[in-house]
Amino acid sequence: MTQPSALTSLNAPGVHGAQGNTIQIALIGCGGRGSGAVVDALSSPENGPLTLVAMADIFPNRLASSHAALSGKFPGAIAVPEDQRFLGFDGYKKAMDCLRPGDIAIFATPPAFRWVHFEYAISKGLNVFMEKPVTVDGPTTRRMFALADASVKKNLKVGVGLMCRHCDARRELQRRVRDGQIGEIVSMRAYRMQRPGGNVFVKPDPTMPEVMFQLRRFHAFLWASGGVFSDYNIHNIDECCMIKDAWPVKAHAVGARHYRGDHVDQNLDVYSVEYTFPDGTRLHFDGRNLENAYGEFASYAHGTKGLAVISTNRHTPARCRIYDGQVMDDTRLAWAYPPEERSPYRVEWVYLIDAIRNDRPWNEVRRGAQVSLITSMGRMAAHTGRIVTYDEILNSSHEFAPGVDALTAEGPAPLLAGPDGRYPVPNPGLVTEREY
Ligand SMILES: NC(=O)c1ccc[n+]([C@@H]2O[C@H](COP(=O)([O-])OP(=O)(O)OC[C@H]3O[C@@H](n4cnc5c(N)ncnc54)[C@H](O)[C@@H]3O)[C@@H](O)[C@H]2O)c1
Repeated sequence: MTQPSALTSLNAPGVHGAQGNTIQIALIGCGGRGSGAVVDALSSPENGPLTLVAMADIFPNRLASSHAALSGKFPGAIAVPEDQRFLGFDGYKKAMDCLRPGDIAIFATPPAFRWVHFEYAISKGLNVFMEKPVTVDGPTTRRMFALADASVKKNLKVGVGLMCRHCDARRELQRRVRDGQIGEIVSMRAYRMQRPGGNVFVKPDPTMPEVMFQLRRFHAFLWASGGVFSDYNIHNIDECCMIKDAWPVKAHAVGARHYRGDHVDQNLDVYSVEYTFPDGTRLHFDGRNLENAYGEFASYAHGTKGLAVISTNRHTPARCRIYDGQVMDDTRLAWAYPPEERSPYRVEWVYLIDAIRNDRPWNEVRRGAQVSLITSMGRMAAHTGRIVTYDEILNSSHEFAPGVDALTAEGPAPLLAGPDGRYPVPNPGLVTEREY
């Protein structure tokens, strides 16, 4: 899969989803990121004509507010009649049924549903943009690898929302590291240390049906999201693997819950994972979700000749740079990417659409599943208190949400609270074969 260096004709042969030049889109999961993905798709003129024609969600207010916001922003490109706005757990099928082969389905629900929705998209011959993570455990990763192969066989184009991989600055840094500008990488470190966001800390909500509560608060539940560890940290782990040009083979980790009060989510507050690459190089990753503690959101690679800053603060702008030696001192700055950076959230769409319109190979599912599993490997090491290898988690039999394809609002939920209203949490060293 090569990334196009220049944008190419909208009228090339092999155009998918063509009725004229317009590619139709269905949005499944109309929350923050799903709506943002539509904005990103529609905001680059080089993507050519795109029309959102169907939407699906399980919460009416989510669908309505997304529809209103997108219609206000792109009045000419949002054509979703009332009868193509679908509510409920089978809405994904109805939304995809509105598309023609070669159109695009966007998956931006919590990750638990990724394989379910992807299987249907493949059967319909649809191209896909799916958000990360794409799996949360070993069994769903194995399933996703098989689906990846099936989608490649059908020549489907699939983008995965690991946008840092498509960031111009990180790609230039990758070229320089491959050229040897920091020497051999001897160590890497990455941080996502911040105050709690999203639904990391959650209290019960007796006003909502259980399944709907768990999905509204999906960062809180491992089956829905892989927890805050997978949902937040996958990007920093992925960008380090990108610069290292390798995948870790094992992890060990520590983690703890500090001040939980009456919060009932399954997350630990702090995680510290040591990943080992095949050549023995380590990646140290620290994640923390606590108020009033030191914050850092960045990734680094230390080489025998110098230090590479992979990202500086959040995902974009990355402000990639290289220093001579190991000290981040302006006088030692050897290279820095120019201050103006294109948003990787836009760029990933430009590449996907270019591949669709020009029938180039573009399928990121296998890689997305790979890094989703590697992220889960670090999480499992923290949650069990053991060294976890890649092969162990890949072959693990603990599927967090078996039967998620048949889930209904009435339940039962894949995770049940005990009589005290609390859900099972990791007990490292006590519960060591499963994460909870
Ligand atoms: N690439 C990035 O930087 C980035 C940033 C934010 C979120 N994300 C990812 O996007 C996904 C969604 O995150 P978000 O922040 O938009 O959350 P969100 O809660 O704002 O949106 C999720 C939406 O999916 C809906 N939903 C849940 N289950 C559904 C189902 N079975 N069918 C249809 N709709 C369903 C919810 O009602 C909600 O509207 C997650 O996987 C997250 O990790 C990626």
